[in-house]
Amino acid sequence: MSKYITTPIYYVNGEAHIGHAYTTFIADTMARYERLKGEKTYFLTGTDEHGQKIEESAIKNNKPTQEFADEISATFKNLWDEFEISYDQFIRTTDAKHKKGVQKAFEVMFAKGDIYKDFYEGHYCVSCETFFPETQLVDSEFCPDCGRTTSIVKEESYFFKLSKYEDKLLKFYEENPDFVLPRSRGNEVINFVKSGLRDLSVTRTSFKWGVPMPESLNDDKHVMYVWLDALMNYVTALGYGDDEALMDFWPASTHFVGKDILRFHAIYWPAFLMSLDLPLPKTIAAHGWWTRDGEKMSKSKGNVVSPKEVADAYGVENLRYFMLREVPFGQDGDFSQRAFIDRINSELSNDLGNLLNRIIGMSGKYSDFEIDSIDVEKYHSKELESMNTALSNLDEFMKNVQTHRYLDELWKLFSIGNKAIEEYAPWTKMKEGKKDEALATVALVANILAKASIMLHPIMPKTTNTIADALNFEINNESFKNLVENKQLLKTFIIKKVPPLFPRVEEPLMPEAPKAEPTKTENDCKKDEPKKEEDNLIEIGQFFETSLKIGTIVEAQEVKKSKKLLKLQVDLGEEKPRQIVAGIKEFYSPEDLVGTQACVVANLKPAKLMGMMSEGMLLAAKDEDGLCLVRPQKPKKAGTPVG
Ligand code: MSP
Repeated sequence: MSKYITTPIYYVNGEAHIGHAYTTFIADTMARYERLKGEKTYFLTGTDEHGQKIEESAIKNNKPTQEFADEISATFKNLWDEFEISYDQFIRTTDAKHKKGVQKAFEVMFAKGDIYKDFYEGHYCVSCETFFPETQLVDSEFCPDCGRTTSIVKEESYFFKLSKYEDKLLKFYEENPDFVLPRSRGNEVINFVKSGLRDLSVTRTSFKWGVPMPESLNDDKHVMYVWLDALMNYVTALGYGDDEALMDFWPASTHFVGKDILRFHAIYWPAFLMSLDLPLPKTIAAHGWWTRDGEKMSKSKGNVVSPKEVADAYGVENLRYFMLREVPFGQDGDFSQRAFIDRINSELSNDLGNLLNRIIGMSGKYSDFEIDSIDVEKYHSKELESMNTALSNLDEFMKNVQTHRYLDELWKLFSIGNKAIEEYAPWTKMKEGKKDEALATVALVANILAKASIMLHPIMPKTTNTIADALNFEINNESFKNLVENKQLLKTFIIKKVPPLFPRVEEPLMPEAPKAEPTKTENDCKKDEPKKEEDNLIEIGQFFETSLKIGTIVEAQEVKKSKKLLKLQVDLGEEKPRQIVAGIKEFYSPEDLVGTQACVVANLKPAKLMGMMSEGMLLAAKDEDGLCLVRPQKPKKAGTPVG
């Protein structure tokens, strides 16, 4: 069966922000994943251009509405093109073809008796383009969704008989428990419908910027309600009401939406489709909202994250990885440069990038960049088994849009690869003359990298193509089938050097968001209160001013006449070891220390302790049980930076 994947269509009253980029990244990932699996896939995105909000924004910008819509729509399209979003169609609701389809749908619903004319008086929120009953208003005045002031609007309107579909909808939800993902959000929808549905006003007479009524109704006072117009994009893009050549892709497999527009997609949209006798979409997947450094983003605060700015600074694929890894689908997520940099450095640069570099390095050194997989099964059946288990878990995670779990599981592969190198130490095997064993480990890891890059491809398409290029194979449906589904190994590799894929990021590459003015509270007047951790936060740059390194303790002596001090010689990978005087005598004897490693502050100003020069400090943790040095979990080269 074919796959049809959509993003919401974005309002053209402002440029794209990180929330828009997130939905687009997930939808793009899903579309690429389906294509990789060989599914016939159609991916739609676009812009939502009608309604009072857009009309008002155009007036504010002193532009004719269409010209304004053209400009903003182009900024979305250009950004998605720059990000290489693999959409098949970019629809605009001002396209003639779309308008024709919406009019056709209106006629069909009208002819069926599902649309009738009446009067509407109610509280209307221009920003949400929605009427709200008085009971739902906040303080009898403000919109329950966006908090803006509503106004009372009385107008003649056409109504869609939403109430008629209440029972049918409930039955449908019951029969299709995965219609809304995550499931918990499905319950919200069910409760909303159970609380009773009122008929929906689907036309407006108070402004003109909308799809005109079908000629057959001869009523040009009205234009269509923007949500009827917008939702129809999912079928007009396939030719509904016009040339229906693409309608084979209907029903949609997944509509990706934000949680704020779930109700429109999970209630109105299926009801419209039932009225049109069209099949219902398989899944509405609703994601959470992004904040920045824990705060809601807003233009007035000036803290809106621009996806273009982030991509220019950190690379668009790193951003895709971060967003899909950082939040469980459905939950709200926070964008902070600190968290982003951490993931780049530890997961992309260390776990993946270094592994590839090691394979390039070892294959070059041991066999002139040519390796084969002949001995992999013989020496590494255990690793192959764990690798295959992780690979076979992935599909279920992606099906449920659990991208964070998908990536977490995928990273198990790199950990298997890194562990294998540590455990089998190919350099030792080479010294011992066991070249076939050494090369088997290198080939195992090359296979791990190949398989992992196929599965990472939907999230990081270009980066993984570079990895594939370094390993001399191509990522496509054939390699997916052979290497992932059929668990084959790549027989031979001719390894190519590529520049490091994920250079470490030492400090933030973008200016920090402006800090919200702290509101003064009673507490601000109290003196001498211990500073709370959150009051004492530092910038990441301040953290990186400290140079932390792994040191190997090569000598240790007691300092006579001192109860606390030991004099150590610590190798930090420099010309000669440094002398460090440490207050750890009560907890360690010199013999316990020699040959062990610890984490060292390497850029402390030298100081004299009991007349002895100390050129650094060891990190230690102390509690009621005593003190212990902070050490790497496994041996690292002396001088390896920590951070
Ligand atoms: N035009 C409608 C959608 C019509 S679909 C038939 C619309 N447009 S929007 O531009 O306001 O929002 C588009 C999407 O961006 C929505 O899914 C919304 O949830 C999402 N986001 C807007 N702000 C967001 C965040 N801060 N974080 C994550 N997503 C957010 O609604």
